[in-house]
Amino acid sequence: MNNTIELLHKHTSVRSFTNQPLTEEQRDAIFKAANQTSTSSLLQVVSIIRIADPDLRKKVMHLSFNQPYIEEAAEFWIFCADLNRNHQIAPKVDLEYIEYFLISTFDAGLMAQNALTAAESMGLGGVFIGGVQVNIAELTEVLNLPKYVIPLVGLCIGHPAGEKPGLKPRLPQSMVMFDNQYQPLDEEKLATYDQQMREYYQNRPVRAPFTVQKVKGWTDHIEDHLERAQLPFMLEYLNKQGFAKK
Ligand SMILES: Cc1cc2nc3c(=O)[nH]c(=O)nc-3n(C[C@H](O)[C@H](O)[C@H](O)COP(=O)(O)O)c2cc1C
Repeated sequence: MNNTIELLHKHTSVRSFTNQPLTEEQRDAIFKAANQTSTSSLLQVVSIIRIADPDLRKKVMHLSFNQPYIEEAAEFWIFCADLNRNHQIAPKVDLEYIEYFLISTFDAGLMAQNALTAAESMGLGGVFIGGVQVNIAELTEVLNLPKYVIPLVGLCIGHPAGEKPGLKPRLPQSMVMFDNQYQPLDEEKLATYDQQMREYYQNRPVRAPFTVQKVKGWTDHIEDHLERAQLPFMLEYLNKQGFAKK
């Protein structure tokens, strides 16, 4: 196996950081890795807001389920789908089609993952923060985001405090990757994975993400989390920002 594969195979989210800052060189290297990510038709429809100001960081933390690592991480970057740049270049194009929403959010996800992988390759750790969406309208105001820009996910980056948590088990390949045709859910394999997750959570590190603190198995997690993940105001918000109207 090469170093890249090894790195990818040992990913785990890190939620505890020392207070050591990143060097400018580390920050630049992470940014360049993210910025070189594939981008649909070279549209480059992503912007990153780096939350450097401590007061603003605290505010963003309060708006994002009060997750303490947002404040503690050396860096906190918010990845935004950004059609505003393209809109200024081509103002006559109607950007309200849902396809632009798909393109820009997909691009942002790819870019964010490359940033995290780049950070991990330097011995740093991080965790994504989807919690930035729970008060998305207020966050949009706080960050001064214009029409055609929406915050999608935050990324905490820093030096891990102590040992990184152990690998969180994933579904087996046979449940996730199919040859040629989609396959129905295999209940037996699901039960095996559920048991594996139960064992994992029994030994899990103290700092659990807010979503899974009471989880017993993966099935429980899905039942518990899916409904809580609903944000009924989201469509109206997206439309207000000029996204996904048709
Ligand atoms: C889009 C996205 C949003 C996430 N949001 C949060 C979050 O708000 N808080 C948190 O603690 N973890 C968050 N996570 C991290 C996941 O909980 C984590 O990746 C998952 O449980 C798998 O664990 P692992 O990354 O350690 O393997 C998020 C991950 C993704 C991809």
